[in-house]
Amino acid sequence: MKKINILGISGSLRSDSTNAIILRAIESLLPENVTFQIFNGLDEMPHFSPGLEEPDAVMKFKRALQLADAVIISTPEYAFGVPGTLKNALDWTVATGEFNEKPVAAISASPLNTGGDKALASLLLTLTALGTVRNENSYLSIPNVKSKIVEGKIADQNTIELLKIQVANLLSLIYIRS
Ligand SMILES: Cc1cc2nc3c(=O)[nH]c(=O)nc-3n(C[C@H](O)[C@H](O)[C@H](O)COP(=O)(O)O)c2cc1C
Repeated sequence: MKKINILGISGSLRSDSTNAIILRAIESLLPENVTFQIFNGLDEMPHFSPGLEEPDAVMKFKRALQLADAVIISTPEYAFGVPGTLKNALDWTVATGEFNEKPVAAISASPLNTGGDKALASLLLTLTALGTVRNENSYLSIPNVKSKIVEGKIADQNTIELLKIQVANLLSLIYIRS
């Protein structure tokens, strides 16, 4: 089986983040030939400005993207939008194209019943601008997320099934391209 490397990115910096819990749940659903790493360091990246020299933190992010066959982003919504740290990290890649032609799954999660839908819509627009590879199944919005987590794990079977669909879909996008 081909070895596959997937990078997880959480839009939240909180240590007990629900989005990090979602990414860890996804990790447990991946087949054995897939290695999964959650990127650590979004908050080390300076504010993007065109022409700025790339510091180590940005190079670390770009290297992780280059090594990844695909990316899964799980993010909260802040003030109806994508958290600034996540958007900042994505902006750093616009000119150099690390997301270009990269299969990506986008997930939003919220304690509200809207599921972070506005952040997800905005994230999908940015991912389109970045040239990512997606299809009509490459996104998921998880509403009422706090009620679906028990002792740091996703306890809601329907959510687990939806995450499995995301994994299967992302893997199919990777295999189609290889
Ligand atoms: C400043 C702030 C703004 C927020 N704005 C929204 C929002 O617009 N929509 C929403 O669904 N949740 C909003 N939330 C709630 C977050 O979705 C919630 O805190 C979520 O659990 C954060 O994700 P995390 O657990 O992965 O850190 C907001 C939270 C904060 C602290």
